[in-house]
Amino acid sequence: MSSAANTSQRITVPQLRARKGGEPIVCLTAYTAPMARLLDPHVDLLLIGDSLGMVVYGFDSTLPVSLEMMIAHGAAVERASTTACVVVDMPFGTYQESPQAAFRACARVMAETGCAAVKLEGGAEMVETVAFLVARGIPVMGHVGLTPQSFNVFGGFRAQGREDAAARRILADAEAIAQAGAFAIVVEGTVELLAREITMRVPVPIIGIGASPACDGQILVTEDLLGLFAAFTPKFVKRYAELGNQVSEAVAAYAGDVKARRFPGPEHCFGRGPAKG
Ligand code: KIV
Repeated sequence: MSSAANTSQRITVPQLRARKGGEPIVCLTAYTAPMARLLDPHVDLLLIGDSLGMVVYGFDSTLPVSLEMMIAHGAAVERASTTACVVVDMPFGTYQESPQAAFRACARVMAETGCAAVKLEGGAEMVETVAFLVARGIPVMGHVGLTPQSFNVFGGFRAQGREDAAARRILADAEAIAQAGAFAIVVEGTVELLAREITMRVPVPIIGIGASPACDGQILVTEDLLGLFAAFTPKFVKRYAELGNQVSEAVAAYAGDVKARRFPGPEHCFGRGPAKG
């Protein structure tokens, strides 16, 4: 399928932007083609999150994730999906230095994956960069509150906005990023009342994760929701399945069959003579 045919049926950035205050926007992360194929019919937005560093690559944080990793996984998800709006996270160190450096990295991601938009973390300090990118044709999704790329500054992955000053700063960050042109903003790991207030005050869709049911949409890391990521489960995750257990059981059954020579059976072996069927 040509990329023109591919993009024509996709949910677009302006369509998502127009959903502020409307039907909740369903978002999930996807890192691979098979998972993207399964999720695509059910979601509005697929995010190739830099959480893939922890979930897929086994790093302790998202900091070691490279642009090349994001491009490879972003391209796979884009190829395997037809309707969801595909957004790629910008990894640590590729956009913070200057608007120009951010543009070069984001333009590579857009050109080499075919995604519709990029996501980057940060508040007031990223305003100039967001405006620079949007003015040059790169739709940007913001990400404020608990921003995992700054976990060294926070001293860990903790809920944000418990104190008044911090809450005011996060609200101001969201307002500033929206004002700079972001089409939507992820609010992660914040006090519920604060996320509710941000959703009320900020004119673009607010996508919550560990935020509030009042947000304009929700996102989770798919492997958390499916029980496929065992390292830790944040409080804000609801496990809808325990696929990790099913994988362990299936693989243990396979190992038992191989050791007992029950697999492969005659039905899995090729006979002699002309091929049938
Ligand atoms: O990296 C990621 O997966 C994210 C989402 C959880 C919002 O940023």
